Amino acid sequence: MSAPSKLVTEHAALCEQIAAHDEAYYQRDAPTISDAEYDALLRRLFDIEAAHPELASETSPTQRVAGAPLGQLESVAHRKPMLSLANTYSREEVVDWFDSTRDFLAADDAALAFRIEPKLDGVAIELVYEHGRFVRAITRGDGKVGDDVTHNARTIRGVPRTLHTESPPALLEVRGEVVMRHASFATVNARREAAGEPLFVNPRNLASGTLKLLDPREAARRPLDFLGYGLGVTDGFEAEGHTQAMEQLEAWGLPTTAEWGLTGDLEAVLAHYDALLSGRDDLPFDVDGSVIKVNDHALQKRLGERSRSPRWAIAFKFPARSATSMLREIQVQVGRTGALTPRAVIEPVHVGGVTIEHVTLHNGDEIARLGVKPGDRVFVERAGDVIPKIVGLAEDGGGPPFVMPTACPVCATPVVDDEDEVVLRCPNRACPAVLQRRLEHFVSRNALDVDGLGTKVLALLVEQGLLTSLADLFALEAEQLAELPRMGEISARNAIEALQASRTRNFARFLFALGIRHVGQHVAEVIAGRWPDLAALRGVSTEDLEDVAEIGPTVAASLSAWLADDDEQRMVDRMFELGVAPQALAPPAEDDGAGVLAGLNVLFTGALQTLSRREAQELTKAHGGKLLSGVSKNLDLLVVGEKPGSKLKKAQELGIEVLEEAAFLERLGEAPR
Ligand code: IVH
Repeated sequence: MSAPSKLVTEHAALCEQIAAHDEAYYQRDAPTISDAEYDALLRRLFDIEAAHPELASETSPTQRVAGAPLGQLESVAHRKPMLSLANTYSREEVVDWFDSTRDFLAADDAALAFRIEPKLDGVAIELVYEHGRFVRAITRGDGKVGDDVTHNARTIRGVPRTLHTESPPALLEVRGEVVMRHASFATVNARREAAGEPLFVNPRNLASGTLKLLDPREAARRPLDFLGYGLGVTDGFEAEGHTQAMEQLEAWGLPTTAEWGLTGDLEAVLAHYDALLSGRDDLPFDVDGSVIKVNDHALQKRLGERSRSPRWAIAFKFPARSATSMLREIQVQVGRTGALTPRAVIEPVHVGGVTIEHVTLHNGDEIARLGVKPGDRVFVERAGDVIPKIVGLAEDGGGPPFVMPTACPVCATPVVDDEDEVVLRCPNRACPAVLQRRLEHFVSRNALDVDGLGTKVLALLVEQGLLTSLADLFALEAEQLAELPRMGEISARNAIEALQASRTRNFARFLFALGIRHVGQHVAEVIAGRWPDLAALRGVSTEDLEDVAEIGPTVAASLSAWLADDDEQRMVDRMFELGVAPQALAPPAEDDGAGVLAGLNVLFTGALQTLSRREAQELTKAHGGKLLSGVSKNLDLLVVGEKPGSKLKKAQELGIEVLEEAAFLERLGEAPR
């Protein structure tokens, strides 16, 4: 069936449009549409040609993509081995390399220039151009022999079909990195997620997987980029130095690494690294370090090569954010709500500046999604302050799949499956693990803040039967504590004193300390701001709770259930009998100017000497002030402790009022403490 004329017209228009965009992108480096829009055009062209193959002429832009699936990839030898780079994470080693390279070459008294480039975290590839025509793409492989991935490389926008020149060299081997942009990575993974397919762990894996696909039509749906950084064998082209070579590649339509520099100055080399490191998240693709190369080709030759890497270059790598490690074991921990949380124990690895040995796996569904089990090698990631996570399987260890336990690993009670959640729970309130976690939370800093009752002491007290509930804490006597191993009389007395002080913490902290599900610090403050004590709270209905802004149905239901729980209420009553008397929060200041801090934004900085941070913040709120987290022009008052640092400087620059702690207390009419 021949194509309707409307489609023929659309097809021709698309071919023209895409060719124009290609030209804008490759030759003028000035694309006028986004990658996504470009891909949509190309996809439409593919669809039309799929229905009407006769339209797919030689000149169609799809032909740089085309090709039927292959049976398997062919191995091809590189004419010249593709070496790797010596690398280091150490500034000192970079300095040593720099100095010794300069010393070695000083014989010539050469004006020595170093080219600095980002180290792209992708897949190394070699493109072969014969008489200006792209004929082959080969992965690095083992450096000597790689896979022929020509069919997929044709789908890469940065791989021109012909060099943009009238007089191309007879042979040009271009080496570079195939990378995937973060945005494309997200798109491809979103599509896979929607299709229920396993997700790619990172852009490098996706790029590598894509290059090795047998079907280039699938590869075309996963947009890759190519960036050149070197040459293999050439015939009819020589450049004086690396930068000159890269400039020529650009002129021929081959993109090369951006963000580069040329310098003889060590400080500039190190500054390039620092700038790349701090800006790495703003780059469109993953960069894992900087590469420092002697620019001049003749000098490169003099420096020569080791067996696997040249002496004229070094990679200065960023601290790794991702690594692989052996998953040794999956432990299941029981939390304070009885939730069973699996946690991976891995062979310790250094990622993002810290050593990681334990990684939470959240729940059984997450383990199934990741498809990991003991004995596997797994990918571990950690970026910035983010807690480490396992992001996928690196190598299957062949072990049996992991199954979540059907009974609590601590008290053996059969677990229950929370209907609306993916969590398994131990329903036994007397489970020693649940009690231990509840106690730890109860005494923690943001809860009742009881010093001297650490995890080990609590565990001993539970073990000896001295603690069977939270309330038992307040029945403890100094003599009982003093008998515990490594707990002298003084520590015992201190702990009892700390417990005494905790009896009158405010109602918000008390509520939070009880560990009621979904009642976090903020929600506890909201509730305590509305009801002064438990007696008042016991009289409210779920609806009353839901009427409070910031309290949703989940919190309301959970709190109601807790209030209706006889065991819990008996336990709290016993605390009251034992002298626990949570203090009502100060009534919130009215907006009509009540409270000396009404309408003022306050921030604390430096080490306060008499108040704890928390007390200072509570006082501020009690006097009608609002807390800010940073210095801005909205700030009205900065209260400084010792060693205030940069916030003070900034506040002074902005002309913001600054008070010392004592003066602040005086302003509030609070006695100095
Ligand atoms: S030059 C003989 N420059 O790093 C030196 N390599 O560990 C050839 N890489 O296999 C490499 N960015 O895949 C060079 N700007 C860059 C690079 C770069 C990334 C990769 C490349 C190579 C690996 C070496």
